[in-house]
Amino acid sequence: MLLKEKTVIVTGGNSGIGEAIVIAAAAAGANVVIDYVAHPEETSSLIARIEAAGGKAVGLDADISTVAGLQALVQTAVETFGGLDVFINNAGIETRTSVLETSEEQYQKVLDINLKSAFFGTQLAAKQFIAQGTAGVILNISSVHEDWPMPGNTAYCVAKGGMRMLTRTAGVELGEHGIRVLNLCPGAVETPINASTMADPGKLKSLDAAIPLGRMAKPEEIARMAVMLASDTAAYLTSTSVFIDGGLMQGSVGL
Ligand code: BGC
Repeated sequence: MLLKEKTVIVTGGNSGIGEAIVIAAAAAGANVVIDYVAHPEETSSLIARIEAAGGKAVGLDADISTVAGLQALVQTAVETFGGLDVFINNAGIETRTSVLETSEEQYQKVLDINLKSAFFGTQLAAKQFIAQGTAGVILNISSVHEDWPMPGNTAYCVAKGGMRMLTRTAGVELGEHGIRVLNLCPGAVETPINASTMADPGKLKSLDAAIPLGRMAKPEEIARMAVMLASDTAAYLTSTSVFIDGGLMQGSVGL
C-alpha cells in the first residue's frame, strides 16, 4: 500500500495513462480525484470499479487549461478527502503537425493543455501543501519528447520541453518546503494518443523495431512507476526526469 490514505489528483484521469494511474493509485490505497473533460460515463464506470475493489474515488469535469478548473480540483480534494498529497499533471494532447503546418489555434491548445495546466497545477498544489504544512508530490507526465525531437509533432515537443524546465526549476524552488517535483517520461504507450500508429501495421512495425525492448508499453507499466515516484520509495528524488521508454531514446541501428 504505497499510497495508503494519500489523496491524489490525476488530470486527464479517465483514459490512457491517466486511467491506469487512477486504478494503480487506488489499488495502492489512495483516495483519487479523477479529472476529465469528456466521457462522463467512463469516469462513472471507473469509479464503480474502484469502489468495488474497496477504493475511494470522485470525478470532476474540470477544464485544466484554466486556473479555475485546476482550483476546482484542489477544492474537491480538500472537501471530499480533507487535503491533498499528490498532484499528477497527466492531461495531454498532440496534433502531429510540423512547425510549417501548425496553426495558431493548434499551438495554443497544445501549450494550454500540456504545459499551462502543469504550470498552474504545480502552483496550486504547492500552495495547498504549504497551507497544510505537509510535504507533497507533484508528478508531471512528460514524454521522451521533452528532450528528444519528434519531427511532425513540434508544438507537443515544445510543451514537453517546457515541462522539463518547469520540473527542474519548481523542484529547486519548492525543495525548502519538502515538496518533490518530478517528471515521468514515457516512450510509446498503447493509449488513444497513439491510435493512428497502432492502426497502421507498417508504422507500428517500424516503431516496435526502434524500441530495444521491441514493443510499446502497456499503460499499467507506466502507472506502476508513477505510483512509486509519488510514494516515499522515491523520497530523495526531485527536480529531475525519469525515462520509461523500453530503451527507445538510446536505440541505435548500429551503423
Ligand atoms: C507521443 C507519441 C509517440 C511517443 C514515442 C509520445 O510522447 O505522444 O505520439 O509515439 O511519444 O515517440
